[in-house]
Amino acid sequence: MRLQNKIALITGGARGIGLGFAEAFVAEGARVVIADINLERANEAAASIGPAAKAVKLDVTNLAEIDATVKMIDEEFDGIDILVNNAAIFDMAPIQAITEASYDRVFDVNLKGPLFTMKAVANVMIARGRGGKIINMASQAGRRGEALVTLYCASKAAIISATQSAALALVKYGVNVNAIAPGVVDGEHWDIVDAKFAEWEGLKPGEKKEQVAKSVPIGRFATPDDIKGLAVFLASSDSDYILAQTYNVDGGNWMS
Ligand SMILES: NC(=O)c1ccc[n+]([C@@H]2O[C@H](COP(=O)([O-])OP(=O)(O)OC[C@H]3O[C@@H](n4cnc5c(N)ncnc54)[C@H](O)[C@@H]3O)[C@@H](O)[C@H]2O)c1
Repeated sequence: MRLQNKIALITGGARGIGLGFAEAFVAEGARVVIADINLERANEAAASIGPAAKAVKLDVTNLAEIDATVKMIDEEFDGIDILVNNAAIFDMAPIQAITEASYDRVFDVNLKGPLFTMKAVANVMIARGRGGKIINMASQAGRRGEALVTLYCASKAAIISATQSAALALVKYGVNVNAIAPGVVDGEHWDIVDAKFAEWEGLKPGEKKEQVAKSVPIGRFATPDDIKGLAVFLASSDSDYILAQTYNVDGGNWMS
């Protein structure tokens, strides 16, 4: 059990990769709080995991909700050992068609939310004095631009940078901050991506997914199971000497 008695907060953990992490952390002995804007799905997720998982409603764009959630966990569980900044949304458009509304929403959820959740959790970790682990979900989209994905790519590049700055600020408190950059992971997120590409490129539903799967060197999409091992490692003491890094888990899509 590599996470025995650890308390983990996973934003956006009601489905997909975050849910996979919640299951994996509990299997390693942790208790997890699944904090998601969709409370119904978060409740279903927590119920499927069992008593070591608790669901709370959190919109990561609402700073008061972040602070209240972090305070509640700190008081109820005596601290927070692990934060996974996993909640994010996808939108796409080339630079000539981006909108202010899309910018505001993508950057609020994908950057502002993680930044202020890191702030709140880091202050609890510092006050408790027992260190901690913070994992930010980046993406291969943060490694390079994509003609049709201006804002999401920029938000994921920004979270890679924020990971580096936070890691350097928090190392003296025994808090390790790192990031994971998945490639393409099957699930509801990619159903949204596929539908948006279909609109922009005039494709049939499912066609983009097929093209993309063929282009991955390993020959297929990932599942959350392919990503969870790295999350457990980064959440555990096995990664104590690692900070400020972003690790690709992408079937060979990107080499850096
Ligand atoms: N699926 C992929 O191919 C892929 C690839 C690279 C990176 N990622 C990243 O991994 C992470 C998880 O991806 P996923 O595929 O599981 O996504 P997903 O869309 O399936 O799940 C995201 C979760 O975040 C929640 N959420 C959305 N807005 C929120 C908000 N404002 N506050 C709180 N919760 C909110 C949703 O309700 C949902 O449960 C994201 O950061 C994503 O950008 C995913």
